[in-house]
Amino acid sequence: MTKFSVNDRPVEYRMDPETPLLWALRDASNLTGTKYGCGTGDCGACTVDIDGEAIRSCLVTIAECEGRFVTTIEGLSRDRSHPVQQAWVAEQVPQCGFCQSGMIMTAAALLRKNSNPGDAEIDAAMTNICRCGTYPRIRAAIRLAGRVLRGEERIAAAPPPGIRPEDAARAVPALRPPPGR
Ligand code: FES
Ligand code: FES
Repeated sequence: MTKFSVNDRPVEYRMDPETPLLWALRDASNLTGTKYGCGTGDCGACTVDIDGEAIRSCLVTIAECEGRFVTTIEGLSRDRSHPVQQAWVAEQVPQCGFCQSGMIMTAAALLRKNSNPGDAEIDAAMTNICRCGTYPRIRAAIRLAGRVLRGEERIAAAPPPGIRPEDAARAVPALRPPPGR
């Protein structure tokens, strides 16, 4: 049995200790915001925060997480109010979105250590892959989030306060086929 904290809650996984953290989060905890891209540590789609570091969860076993504090995209904020999330919305970063939770978790870890990273520091930290090529908007959003964290700027178009992700998902109208199909 492996015990650690996920999004500030204690968890015990009755799984093979060699199970990658990514699978425990997605399959046992239903935290599917963390994505499976490559499984080899190359793409960064599976990035979570472990004790303040951006870590690729496909490369970490749950045994290695014993006693540690894991935060996933679902735990970054309760209401999507984290400055990085707000900046991502303001800069309209995502395209398909698959890479984005990993990008956000990596950016949040970077800004926690350095709220004013230069271009070289951003590029060095953001080694995640975006197949849609959103890199310029990612850099812009990181700079904006940094200004917010430093108190230099506020984001006007913040997500509605207090909204829960499950409520937001319900509020999205179902996609309907175009007329005539
Ligand atoms: S799925 Fe972990 S780095 Fe790609
Ligand atoms: S937004 Fe599509 S992979 Fe990054």
